Amino acid sequence: MSMSVIARPEHCTMSRVVALSAVCLVVLAFALDDLEVALSGAAYANKTLILTVLNKAYAEEDGLLDLFVESLRRGEGTAQLIDHVLFVAMDAPAFQRCRSFSGVRCYRLRPVDGQGDDLSSEQLYMSDGFIRMMWRRIRFLGDVLKHGYSFIFTDLDVMWLRNPFPKLHRRADEDFLISCDKFNRRPRDYAGNELNTGFFFVASNNRTVALFDEWHGARNASAGMKEQDVLNQMVRRGAFQRLGVGARVLDTARFSGFCQDSRDAAQVATVHANCCLTQRAKVADLRAVLGAATERLNGTATDLRWPAHSECAKSWT
Ligand SMILES: *[C@@H]1O[C@H](CO)[C@@H](O)[C@H](O)[C@H]1NC(C)=O
Ligand SMILES: *[C@@H]1O[C@H](CO)[C@@H](O)[C@H](O)[C@H]1NC(C)=O
Ligand SMILES: *[C@@H]1O[C@H](CO)[C@@H](O)[C@H](O)[C@H]1NC(C)=O
Ligand SMILES: *[C@@H]1O[C@H](CO)[C@@H](O)[C@H](O)[C@H]1NC(C)=O
Repeated sequence: MSMSVIARPEHCTMSRVVALSAVCLVVLAFALDDLEVALSGAAYANKTLILTVLNKAYAEEDGLLDLFVESLRRGEGTAQLIDHVLFVAMDAPAFQRCRSFSGVRCYRLRPVDGQGDDLSSEQLYMSDGFIRMMWRRIRFLGDVLKHGYSFIFTDLDVMWLRNPFPKLHRRADEDFLISCDKFNRRPRDYAGNELNTGFFFVASNNRTVALFDEWHGARNASAGMKEQDVLNQMVRRGAFQRLGVGARVLDTARFSGFCQDSRDAAQVATVHANCCLTQRAKVADLRAVLGAATERLNGTATDLRWPAHSECAKSWT
């Protein structure tokens, strides 16, 4: 009797240690790869998902995040996509706001070691903070490819009017489909079309992993250049051919933007507030686009005439 009384607490302690270690191991595994957990939660069975990045300024009430989610909810065949979008928050306030939406998947991206960057304020186009945020994003996207996931990357200032997946049909040898500011009707003319990193599809394979590694690796040698300029420069110097990346430039008829409006209302899937400086201007002009598109999709307008992007035009002066 007395033996078992003594033995019982020991037994309890042992099992508690075992249980605690098991919990610790599980917690450790999640901490090591919380990215994998987030990616597999959002992806389709074919390991494809949609990624977008936000900071505090984008996440403010009535800002770009609200508008982006609204476009997904209102667009043609886009509401079903929300469950496959991973919203990547660059700071704590953006993460908090993201989590206040129901049915939205949020992931908190930590700063790289030793770079306690505060990127939460509005990062004005081409400011230091803007450029740092862009590079953090490229590194993150490279990590996603290394995890074996393919994705559409979309900036938050892109309105999703229709499901873009059916318009991204690609040949087996095409790894990288990317939007441009102005389309010259030659989808393989990488030098002649200014590539825009606000919207692209990338398939995960060794070629695209190498492309993103090289792209991110070029950041130091590219002081004052944003990642988009660096990609355009790499591409003009033949990076796609050298790395064997099959690439295609997307037509603005389907993947439209303020630099060049789609001429094809029946086809347009997304509208990007490119050629625009401030968030305030983007929100105003995108809201007008969304309003016009909603009328069109509801059949109350016979043809889609884009509203003038007047706030964006003024944002440069
Ligand atoms: C992955 O599957 C989804 C859902 O079936 C589909 O819409 C999408 O086009 C697929 N993506 C690729 C890259 O095949
Ligand atoms: C890259 O290539 C290696 C060996 O050829 C292969 O094991 C690996 O799965 C490939 N990775 C991707 C992302 O395709
Ligand atoms: C780029 O610069 C940072 C610090 O400014 C340094 O830690 C890093 O090793 C450099 N990377 C390359 C590829 O030169
Ligand atoms: C159509 O209009 C109604 C009412 O104005 C709106 O609630 C709905 O979201 C619209 N539908 C689409 C597909 O835009």
